[in-house]
Amino acid sequence: MKSPISLVGFLLAFASFTFVFAASDTSSPKELAPCVARSPTTGLYYDLNALRVQPLPSDEKARKHVRDESWHAKGYDYNANFTLNICGPVIENVTDVVGIEEPGWRNVSAYYKKDGKTYSIGQQSSDPFFRGRKLVMNYTDGSPCDDEGSHNKSTIISFLCDRDVTTSTPTISFVGTMDQCTYFFEVRSSAACGGYGHDPAGQGLSPGGVFGIIALIAVAAYLVGGCAYQRTVMHQRGWRQCPNYSLWAGIFDFFKDMTIIALSSLGRLFRLKRSPAGYSSAGTDSPPRGRFGSGRRRDIDAENRLIDQLDEEWDD
Ligand SMILES: *[C@@H]1O[C@H](CO)[C@@H](O)[C@H](O)[C@H]1NC(C)=O
Ligand SMILES: *[C@@H]1O[C@H](CO)[C@@H](O)[C@H](O)[C@H]1NC(C)=O
Ligand SMILES: *[C@@H]1O[C@H](CO)[C@@H](O)[C@H](O)[C@H]1NC(C)=O
Ligand SMILES: *[C@@H]1O[C@H](CO)[C@@H](O)[C@H](O)[C@H]1NC(C)=O
Ligand SMILES: *[C@@H]1O[C@H](CO)[C@@H](O)[C@H](O)[C@H]1NC(C)=O
Repeated sequence: MKSPISLVGFLLAFASFTFVFAASDTSSPKELAPCVARSPTTGLYYDLNALRVQPLPSDEKARKHVRDESWHAKGYDYNANFTLNICGPVIENVTDVVGIEEPGWRNVSAYYKKDGKTYSIGQQSSDPFFRGRKLVMNYTDGSPCDDEGSHNKSTIISFLCDRDVTTSTPTISFVGTMDQCTYFFEVRSSAACGGYGHDPAGQGLSPGGVFGIIALIAVAAYLVGGCAYQRTVMHQRGWRQCPNYSLWAGIFDFFKDMTIIALSSLGRLFRLKRSPAGYSSAGTDSPPRGRFGSGRRRDIDAENRLIDQLDEEWDD
């Protein structure tokens, strides 16, 4: 390090490293939270949890503003209306679902009723994903498509961003079905507009990242301002134009000394471990004593000198 510039560079690099580390700390994307998708093209997060109608404990049912039924979609020419939930099973009690065993009734995410029978068009799932730029989700394993039971009904839901539609009232439209086996829906909602840091798992800029940025700016301001002051007002040159040069030099020396002490103690420990008899007894197979003895004396002398020096420095 020949000039203050390299010190500045080093400190800036250190600060940015801290920042990157702090920012990436939480954002290494493990599993996304349920019902959250991340766009691979824009990197935005799409949290659809707001679109899920939550089942209510019975004591809260009296409150009027909470929704106590799942979303509905008119079937028009299909001659049945659909009931569905997003990312979770419908909150209605569905029973006697065609082709589904009783434990699965609780997991029906979309269904319709026709001729007095209840058909599931898909069981619970909470994994929206991106197909290209489209945010989609599917429900599978519904009622059998036909009497042979070789296929089960399923549903594809496509999400569209619409900032005019609040999350509490998404517009859900039934688009169609060709073979009464796969059903296609479109959901418009502001919840389907991506956002930053929407993911409850903590992506986006974490508090650590924000702190890192602030620290980086503070360090930069300190260095630039300090150097300018030392140079123009105090007419310092070279290393001395770094702000608080003597303080930093002192701190650096302190850590250097500490490292030396730590290393020499470690080294001594290591040697003691390897040959416990090395210092105390002159066993036949122990290495020549003189080398170790003098080495140790040198270490002790060096430590004593350092400790004296530190004492003096701290007394100042
Ligand atoms: C679907 O719902 C509409 C009202 O939203 C109703 O008029 C219609 O009769 C329903 N269709 C069926 C098949 O239940
Ligand atoms: C659903 O079933 C439970 C018991 O099985 C009952 O307590 C509850 O009132 C039912 N809810 C509706 C909406 O029918
Ligand atoms: C219902 O869904 C839950 C949660 O995904 C799952 O653990 C459970 O096995 C499902 N039950 C059936 C009968 O599919
Ligand atoms: C349905 O969604 C799952 C993720 O929940 C995905 O792995 C699968 O490929 C999807 N199937 C279709 C046909 O889109
Ligand atoms: C359809 O669902 C039934 C009952 O859930 C299951 O036994 C069957 O394997 C499913 N068929 C297909 C093709 O997934």
